[in-house]
Amino acid sequence: MLNETTKQDKNLFLETFGCQMNVNDSEKIAGILKGLGYRTIENPEEADLVILNTCSVRARAERKVYGHLGRYKALKKRNGRLIIGVGGCVAQQEGERLLQNAPFVDIVFGTHNLHLLPEMVRAAESGEKRTEVSFIDNEQRLDLFPPAGETAGVTAFVTIMQGCDNFCSYCIVPYVRGREISRRPEEILEEIRRLSDQGVREITLLGQNVNSYGLKIAGYPNFPELIQKIADVSGIERVRFTTSHPKDLSSELVECFAQLPKLCSHMHLPAQSGSDAVLAAMRRGYTRDEYLVKVDALKKARPDIQITGDIIVGFPGESEDDFEQTLSLMQEVGYADLFSFIYSKRPETKAAEFQDSMTYEEKHARLARLHALQSDMALERNESFVGTLQGVLVEGRSRRGDQWYGRTSGNRIVTFAGEGSLVGEIVDVRIIRAHQTLLLGELNQG
Ligand code: 5AD
Ligand code: SF4
Repeated sequence: MLNETTKQDKNLFLETFGCQMNVNDSEKIAGILKGLGYRTIENPEEADLVILNTCSVRARAERKVYGHLGRYKALKKRNGRLIIGVGGCVAQQEGERLLQNAPFVDIVFGTHNLHLLPEMVRAAESGEKRTEVSFIDNEQRLDLFPPAGETAGVTAFVTIMQGCDNFCSYCIVPYVRGREISRRPEEILEEIRRLSDQGVREITLLGQNVNSYGLKIAGYPNFPELIQKIADVSGIERVRFTTSHPKDLSSELVECFAQLPKLCSHMHLPAQSGSDAVLAAMRRGYTRDEYLVKVDALKKARPDIQITGDIIVGFPGESEDDFEQTLSLMQEVGYADLFSFIYSKRPETKAAEFQDSMTYEEKHARLARLHALQSDMALERNESFVGTLQGVLVEGRSRRGDQWYGRTSGNRIVTFAGEGSLVGEIVDVRIIRAHQTLLLGELNQG
């Protein structure tokens, strides 16, 4: 029989902004609040509690939070008992200011404070507003890593480290997520064994800079050693990871691509810029040449590797020549996908002090040039798969109901005519057509 506190009779609407790390935190939040009797629902109109898990990596993401909060304010006018909570990076950054700017908010909890949610929600249920945004010490953080959520799927994300010690000059992450900490290896492996027992076949290891996993704690495996241990877990067919810092990409990790077939042929390796002057101002810790040498080593170790990346356009002081060097870097690397952003000034960061004389229109025009080049290159790259056979891990039914979908080892999405019994299997699919972000194929019958 359910007792008073576990009866699922209250409704939680949870909205998540930003990165996969936040998605994982949201799963943890949903789990914590389930213990208080909240079940997750899809319609905010029916909610007793709304939680926004926010992102502040760029100003636009932050503005979106305030925009959405306006909607919930209107809901609260209709339902005076609605509790509104804000967590994640904006909450961490704004703290008490959030309650001042949005007085209808009841709870503000930072990136290290998820474990305090039960008492904060109970207080809010009795009408008390609370803000908790203090960072906690590393010993306590080690006990609070978000576990992978319950999944019925064949792929799962597992957090292996959090925070960042790099302090790139544009980036707010070290200030809102705190310093780097690596999760206990035995806990990671235990979680992956459990996921494998549930039918998961592919694991994506998550962290702000997975390459530096374990380096600062005596007795921990380093990242390549951790990957090896995970590949050995029975039932796990594929291992991926994101995200990587080029300066910490070791030759030992490159060697893993040569030696470990279960390690997928994909590397997300954000360059941010192709110009040495901009890279130095960004404090990235590598030059264009050093980046390209690592990309070459990866291509040698795994000739079919798909490299993806992030680029920031319009960093303070970026000249036309600097920007052209970024375009030429893109051509040399041949990115399979590229995530590109206009530079956004972030509070507390070093670059916020830099003189920035370029107009938004100029930055936008550069971004459009970059997009045009990347679209052409991505299509050309996908077209090169036409006629090839690809091993596809089947994940489920595609949005076009008569088709199934999965991904290649290089992380290309493929749709094809199949059947439900193939979910969780790696099947051979012949690629017959290519779009910019999607491949169409047919099952290889034989
Ligand atoms: N402005 C624009 N883009 C940024 N990123 C991080 N900080 C900023 C910023 N201030 C981008 C980087 C990073 C990705 C997650 O977000 O490219 O790799
Ligand atoms: Fe930000 Fe740089 Fe750390 Fe990435 S490595 S989270 S860009 S400070």
